[in-house]
Amino acid sequence: MAAVRVRQHVNPLGKKYQTPASPLDWEKIYAKPNQPLHLDIGCAKGQFLMNMAKVEPNWNYLGLEIREPLVGEANKLRFELGLINNLHYLFCNVNNSLHSLLSSLPPGSLQRVTIQFPDPWFKTRHAKRRVVQPELVADLASYLAVGSVVFLQSDMEFVAVEMRDRFAAHPAYQKMGAGEWLAQNPLPVPTERETSVLSRGEPVYRALFVRREIVNEE
Ligand SMILES: C[S@@+](CC[C@H](N)C(=O)[O-])C[C@H]1O[C@@H](n2cnc3c(N)ncnc32)[C@H](O)[C@@H]1O
Repeated sequence: MAAVRVRQHVNPLGKKYQTPASPLDWEKIYAKPNQPLHLDIGCAKGQFLMNMAKVEPNWNYLGLEIREPLVGEANKLRFELGLINNLHYLFCNVNNSLHSLLSSLPPGSLQRVTIQFPDPWFKTRHAKRRVVQPELVADLASYLAVGSVVFLQSDMEFVAVEMRDRFAAHPAYQKMGAGEWLAQNPLPVPTERETSVLSRGEPVYRALFVRREIVNEE
C-alpha cells in the first residue's frame, strides 16, 4: 500500500483550513458522554491520548489535529487497540473550531486542556500561525469548568513564554506553582515530542493553569 504523504507543517491561515469543524454528537462518540473531557490541541499521531485513555479510562479524550492524514491513522489505530469508548480524534483548525465543537458539550465536562510542543513558527511574520492566540485563550475560558486545568509545554522557550503569558493575562486563569516553570510534568504520560526532547537532554518549559471563578462573570 502506498504511504500517505504527511506534510510537516500546514499553514492554519491557509484557505483550506478556514471552515470550522461541524459540531460533534457526543452521545455517538463516547460510551459515557458525561465523563470529564480532556482536550489535546495539536495531538499529531495521537499517541499521548491513547496512553492517557488506557491509564484513566474514566475520562473522555478528544484530540484535535490540523494534519488530516494523521487523524485518519489515529482513529484507525484507536479502533484496532479497542479504545473506542472514550477516545476520539478530529481533523480541524482549532483556531476557528472551538465554538462549534464545544458549545454542545454537557455543561461542566471540559476539565482538562493540553497544548504540548506546538509548532513554533519561528519568523515574526508567521507569529499569527501559532496556535495559542489570545482568542483561543478566551474561547477556552468560556467552556472550561471552574477548577479545570490547562497544561502547556514546549522545548522552545520563546513559545513557552508566549503561551504562558497569554494565559496569565486572562483573568479566568490562575497560574499554579511558585517558580517561572513547573519542574515536572504533572500528567502520568509523556508526549512523543517530549520523550524525544528529553532523550537529547534538552530542557522542557512547562506551565499549569487552573480555571478560576470570576466574580460577575456572565
Ligand atoms: C510539533 S507537533 C506536537 C505533537 C504532540 N502534541 C507532541 O507533543 O508530541 C504540533 C502539532 O500541532 C498541530 N497543529 C498546529 N496548528 C494547529 C491548529 N491550528 N489546529 C490543530 N492542530 C494544529 C500540528 O499539525 C502538529 O501535529
